[in-house]
Amino acid sequence: MTVATAVAHPNIALVKYWGKRDADLNLPATGSLSMTLDVFPTRTTVALDPALDGDAFTLDGRAATGIPLDRVTRFLDVVRALAGVETRARVTSAGTVPEAAGLASSAAGFAALAGAASAAYGLDLDERALTRLARRGSGSASRSVIPGFAVWHAGDTDEESFAESVDAPALAMVIAIVDAGEKPVSSRAAMRRTVLTSPFYPAWVTSTDESLRSALAACRDGDVDRLGRIAETNALRMHALIQSCDPPIRYLAPTSLAVLDRVEALRARGVGAYATADAGPNVVVVCRPADAAEVRDALADLAEIVVAHPGPGLRIEPGAVA
Ligand code: PMV
Repeated sequence: MTVATAVAHPNIALVKYWGKRDADLNLPATGSLSMTLDVFPTRTTVALDPALDGDAFTLDGRAATGIPLDRVTRFLDVVRALAGVETRARVTSAGTVPEAAGLASSAAGFAALAGAASAAYGLDLDERALTRLARRGSGSASRSVIPGFAVWHAGDTDEESFAESVDAPALAMVIAIVDAGEKPVSSRAAMRRTVLTSPFYPAWVTSTDESLRSALAACRDGDVDRLGRIAETNALRMHALIQSCDPPIRYLAPTSLAVLDRVEALRARGVGAYATADAGPNVVVVCRPADAAEVRDALADLAEIVVAHPGPGLRIEPGAVA
């Protein structure tokens, strides 16, 4: 097959990935836990073209150059090496999530690219191998291969660092889109700066290992409130860590903090609502599905709100065009 299309959705981590132990292989310092969403799909087509000297990448209708094109080419180089094929490809991708706004656009993007590229280049990969391949493009993309809840095992080697499904209690995620603009520092650059300059980084690694163990236990017990508390603590620790870089990086905006205040107020009146935020100002509120409408209404004057539930994993559609 020389043309394939794949669809993937973003995921939001309840226990975050922040920091690599190997930047080439994208091996993380810790494991992480996430929910793949049922909103904001990305659809990507990869078509091999022997007439091309270099890969071509069209993102949301525009020809990409510079860093985005380099990242796609470096990713396709990994696929080509596995397939033993040198042919270049035309990549067409259309997303529905605001790019680079801390809403995991790279997770959906690289999961879809891993699916489409592996099929187009004739690799027959099982789910675990697809999570490892997606990881090479963007660490968090490994988790978007998996439907619903996923744990990404840190692992010490390429083979050991994969994502798989995990059972969890029913959750909704209420997304407050505080600012859909591009973030000032990419998560890749910010992670590097964190590892190199934050005095708190070793404590982050130990405490996140511990948070992941407790979060998985809360999942097994079906305990939404314990899971939510762990997720909020872990997210605020990640933002504190990022702010402790030199020079510092701050992703949360005044409106993000206003959302955090509302979440505390919701808890004060007995609603099990817990906040998390990726590398950007948008805040995601974790709650029981039955409480999602109340949480949405409590935040509606602060930001644009999207309610998400557990979504599907990576879907590969042989041959179709984006
Ligand atoms: O996969 P990357 O390089 O886009 O990094 C993702 C980092 C966070 O979204 C902040 C955390 C996570 O686990 O998704």
